Amino acid sequence: MLHTIAAFDRLGEENAFAVLARATTLAHQGRDIINLGIGQPDFKTPQHIVEAAIKALRDGHHGYTPANGLLATREAVVRRTLTTTGVEVSPESVMILPGGKPTMFAAILMFGEPGAEILYPDPGFPIYRSMIEFTGAAPIPVPIREENGFAFSAEETLALITPKTRLLILNSPANPTGGVTARDEIAKLVKGLEKHPEVAILSDEIYDVMTYDGETHCSLLNFPELRDRLIVLNGWSKTWAMTGWRMGWSIWPNGEKGAYLYDKVRKLAVNCWSCVNAPSQYAGIAAID
Ligand SMILES: Cc1ncc(COP(=O)(O)O)c(C=O)c1O
Repeated sequence: MLHTIAAFDRLGEENAFAVLARATTLAHQGRDIINLGIGQPDFKTPQHIVEAAIKALRDGHHGYTPANGLLATREAVVRRTLTTTGVEVSPESVMILPGGKPTMFAAILMFGEPGAEILYPDPGFPIYRSMIEFTGAAPIPVPIREENGFAFSAEETLALITPKTRLLILNSPANPTGGVTARDEIAKLVKGLEKHPEVAILSDEIYDVMTYDGETHCSLLNFPELRDRLIVLNGWSKTWAMTGWRMGWSIWPNGEKGAYLYDKVRKLAVNCWSCVNAPSQYAGIAAID
């Protein structure tokens, strides 16, 4: 047996991918399958987005792009963020990545190590816990309860913070519960976080426009007091049915405390995936505009 580091034995799974593989096999056998396992929108990527990618290829956009993403794509994210949150972020804080997951991967890798604690929603997207365990940090579940509308409670979250807490992962609208945390509850959490200035926040807002029954999403970006330690995860996968394009973005902290993280994630990109493919980035611009 070859010797791999123990961290790989702690790496978890996303069972939805196992279900996808099984459903694909059954579909190939001619069975009529409705796969409710994986978070795949039930519509196709809109045609004008597909055309933008084809045009980009025809126009010769075949090469590497900057590791942090094309400026035009980052500027599109700036416009989209302004529309959905009312907050103007700088393109220098926007990073384009191959999907939403790489932001989670990068942020958890940056803060997780043995001895550290990372808070994550439970039930929640399985990769949070898997990645926390990979780093050797202790995963601390934040219970998501029915009595809180299947969303996180500020009080319960704050009570779990200890001097070892490095990162708090939030997800609203939430997977798998669909719970949306109300603005007042987030404000309560933000107020409480003033007492814990060393805790970074990863807010997974990939379902930001998927709210129902009159509920509205409140972005953590609406709290400027957190901006110097806030990482916002978002992307194209769900909103524009682009799961297979592998297109995500994140907004990284500004200010003295956190701005340096951007260079770390850029370097991680250089070391791992280099950049996101150019046609997908042009498609991403067409989606937003
Ligand atoms: C809460 C949450 N965050 C992130 C992701 C990852 O998205 P992507 O496919 O863009 O990596 C998913 C996908 O299901 C998700 O449910």
